[in-house]
Amino acid sequence: MKAIVWTRYGPPEVLQLREVPTPTPQDHEVLIKIHATTVTAGDCEMRNLSLPLWIRLPMRIWIGLLKPRGTTIPGTELAGEIEAAGKDVQRLRVGDPVFGSSGLKFGTCAEYMCLPEDPDEGALAILPSSMTFEEAATVPFGGTEALHFLRKANIQPGHKVLINGAGGSIGTFAVQLAQYYGAEVTGVDTTAKLDMLRAIGTDHIIDYTQEDFAASGATYDVIFDTVGKRSFSRCLRALKPGGCLLLGNPRPAHMLRALWASATSSKRVIFEMASKKLDDLLFLTELVEAGTLTTVIDRRYPLEQIADAHRYVETGQKQGHVVITVGPRADP
Ligand SMILES: NC(=O)c1ccc[n+]([C@@H]2O[C@H](COP(=O)([O-])OP(=O)(O)OC[C@H]3O[C@@H](n4cnc5c(N)ncnc54)[C@H](OP(=O)(O)O)[C@@H]3O)[C@@H](O)[C@H]2O)c1
Repeated sequence: MKAIVWTRYGPPEVLQLREVPTPTPQDHEVLIKIHATTVTAGDCEMRNLSLPLWIRLPMRIWIGLLKPRGTTIPGTELAGEIEAAGKDVQRLRVGDPVFGSSGLKFGTCAEYMCLPEDPDEGALAILPSSMTFEEAATVPFGGTEALHFLRKANIQPGHKVLINGAGGSIGTFAVQLAQYYGAEVTGVDTTAKLDMLRAIGTDHIIDYTQEDFAASGATYDVIFDTVGKRSFSRCLRALKPGGCLLLGNPRPAHMLRALWASATSSKRVIFEMASKKLDDLLFLTELVEAGTLTTVIDRRYPLEQIADAHRYVETGQKQGHVVITVGPRADP
């Protein structure tokens, strides 16, 4: 099969299209013919290990100290069809359209991959007929991250919620999910993404290149910082008493301050890794089917041009999601 091989840690050129053996499913696994995957900011950070030190070291141990060894095919989101199933597989059938995430197993930038039908890392769900493979591939990371954090905040109707990094993979879902929970949502991102944020119905929009939301005096019940580039103290000050700050991308210093702030004030600060659960994927697809959630696809690249996709994502211009199509387009 064709696959993108992650030859070493470095720039987009380290991702090379190669012929590799097609995997065979074990008894509890399914073989998925992949039609769509994605490139996220996280994929670019993983590719060259431009991660905070406390994540970089464990990742080197997991993936390979000097170059990728245990994992050589990147990508964590997929949508496709079940091509074969091991003898112990019960929930899924050959021919089922599915989508999901492979978690730390990576491996979605390929024509095929094997996953357990109920992976320990990640999740695999049946794709509803109203969603395309490309749309579905965008949900497992950004959608489940946004859902995980916003649930922790216990948003009530009328709450004022601010999403920092609203135009990204997590942010575009977070804006819409917060509205689903009844919040009045302010989205913060860069100038070029503001029209898209208006198009998905964001109530208020702030261009962070022109205005610092934390300096305006406005306060919020919930602030979800998906990018981790705002000052911790300023975010805390922009929170109402009893409010909740969600840190999607915290630094170690933020984590210590989060514990202190939660222990010594009425404000809660939450940071954690979001797990990918099947129930969450199913819940998100119900919202997409109902028209409550819209997926935002900025660009599509064929698998062969994945290095270009990584280069584009690294420019920071990506709005919502970048999709990689694998093989002939399977969607109408
Ligand atoms: N919490 C977790 O478990 C977890 C897991 C994986 C990854 N992550 C990390 O979470 C972060 C967000 O992920 P994502 O996929 O949503 O990234 P993304 O798609 O790149 O979205 C981030 C958005 O934030 C904007 N932004 C950058 N600097 C900003 C600032 N100072 N103020 C407001 N907005 C700003 C970016 O726009 P411009 O760049 O154009 O300014 C972009 O639109 C990434 O760094 C990712 O690695 C978290």
